[in-house]
Amino acid sequence: MVKAVVLGASGGIGQPLSLLLKASPLIDELSLYDVVNTPGVAADLSHISSPAQITGYLPADDGLEKTLTGADIVVIPAGIPRKPGMTRDDLFKINAGIVRDLVTGIAKFCPKAFILIISNPVNSTVPIAAEILKAHKVFDPSRLFGVTTLDVVRASTFTAQITGEKDSRKIVVPVIGGHSGETIVPLLSLAKPACDIPADKLDGLVHRIQFGGDEVVAAKNGGGSATLSMAFAGFRFAESVIKALKGEKGIVEPTFVYLPGVSGGDEVSKSLGGGIDFFAVPVELGPQGAVKATNPIPTINDNEKKLLEIAIKGLKGNIEKGVEFARAAEPAKL
Ligand SMILES: NC(=O)c1ccc[n+]([C@@H]2O[C@H](COP(=O)([O-])OP(=O)(O)OC[C@H]3O[C@@H](n4cnc5c(N)ncnc54)[C@H](O)[C@@H]3O)[C@@H](O)[C@H]2O)c1
Repeated sequence: MVKAVVLGASGGIGQPLSLLLKASPLIDELSLYDVVNTPGVAADLSHISSPAQITGYLPADDGLEKTLTGADIVVIPAGIPRKPGMTRDDLFKINAGIVRDLVTGIAKFCPKAFILIISNPVNSTVPIAAEILKAHKVFDPSRLFGVTTLDVVRASTFTAQITGEKDSRKIVVPVIGGHSGETIVPLLSLAKPACDIPADKLDGLVHRIQFGGDEVVAAKNGGGSATLSMAFAGFRFAESVIKALKGEKGIVEPTFVYLPGVSGGDEVSKSLGGGIDFFAVPVELGPQGAVKATNPIPTINDNEKKLLEIAIKGLKGNIEKGVEFARAAEPAKL
């Protein structure tokens, strides 16, 4: 029996993500939580003929506790999205507090659940979550994931547009680092199958993978950031975590994890020169969550090394900001 939860389920990402989870035969129970509209979203989805039993709660009457109790996997897309001209870091002020409070709920009501964080800035919200879980003495690094799958999905799609591959799913590009602009490092030299990117197209492709989110923010013209592609990506990652939980072997997904707590993380950390505790690398998943972090860094080319140097600088500040916020934060009142 698998119980999945979406926190922020009425939003632009939350609704299509909940739809995909409701339609998945891998899920037996789906519980939705938001500060608005969850009864309506849950009632609508409840008419879909699939195994998952669905409930929707608001904060009143211990709604968060009811939502989270018994959860195996909690996906968090709660929080405000970007408007044109904003960076993901601009969202920190509001989303940091939202993530702190929701993760406090997880620590209390389902401390063993897998936690998948979509709320931006992921580079800071995942460190916040880790600190909150540590403060409650329930931090298990193999169960906390920053969802960077949209960068991986974009890398496949945009690369395929250059190589001419019609089915972009056949192109797998590892994407490492963080989840914002220059902290995103696509490793095109390690694409499978190997991709021949013309030299004059390489920089443009890397930039598009790093800043692809801006295309959507601009096109929505004040209406928010990626929601449908993010729901697809978030579902893909959640599905991988659930399949691994159910015993499927050989599942590897890039995700933003706490390196000192995941097997193989120390080697990644050493390759980065130390001082970076959170980083996205391809991670093997198993029934207990992150089983092993793989380390592609020794095999990357000179161009990718330069991108990595820039990424590390940005990422350090983002991580510290999250850790400091969580350590200074008043405990959430639940
Ligand atoms: N990781 C990624 O790749 C990625 C990609 C796109 C967007 N995002 C991020 O996902 C987040 C959500 O984006 P969106 O477009 O769905 O925004 P949205 O505004 O459409 O939806 C957010 C939802 O969160 C809810 N919410 C706010 N505070 C809450 C709380 N305390 N508890 C529960 N729910 C709460 C809101 O009511 C709303 O329904 C943003 O932070 C955005 O930047 C991440």
